[in-house]
Amino acid sequence: MNKAGIIYFSLTGNTEKVAMRIREKLEAEGKEVEMIRLSEEKNHSFLGNALRALFKIKGKMKEVTFDLKDYDALFFGTPVWAGSPAPALGNYLEKCQGLAGKDASIFVTYGSGLGKERAIRILERMIEEKRGKVIQKIAVQEKAVVKERLVWR
Ligand SMILES: Cc1cc2nc3c(=O)[nH]c(=O)nc-3n(C[C@H](O)[C@H](O)[C@H](O)COP(=O)(O)O)c2cc1C
Repeated sequence: MNKAGIIYFSLTGNTEKVAMRIREKLEAEGKEVEMIRLSEEKNHSFLGNALRALFKIKGKMKEVTFDLKDYDALFFGTPVWAGSPAPALGNYLEKCQGLAGKDASIFVTYGSGLGKERAIRILERMIEEKRGKVIQKIAVQEKAVVKERLVWR
């Protein structure tokens, strides 16, 4: 098994660009990669999203697999919302299965940087609760994402 799963939520595309970069890097190393973009059925306002993130209010998610047994490495990505992960990723981490004993990386994108450590810590705890091993944490400021001019495929 040499397959990585990149599971992420991205509302405005920044986190998705980082996800694509990670995919390119892994593919260059010869790994098979699957991307799972999480999305919610309803749209919310900025304030609504911030409050939902802060108070861990779940939204109804579009259907994806929660079974991670086919992957040997996992990457979990989200924007920082109100010093928290976006609810879709928190929701996913609560439900997923097959993370035990596997290497997991966290990546977040953020604006001001306020609360990014908190968001990462929340994710780390959730992954460790599922007995995943957090091996790296990547935080990219939105400005840096935009500047990178990533190549889309
Ligand atoms: C509802 C909401 C709350 C946010 N809260 C924070 C925050 O607490 N700290 C921060 O640095 N950036 C915050 N941001 C900025 C986002 O983290 C940043 O724009 C991120 O790159 C967006 O990722 P995306 O394009 O993948 O959705 C917030 C953005 C939104 C929409």
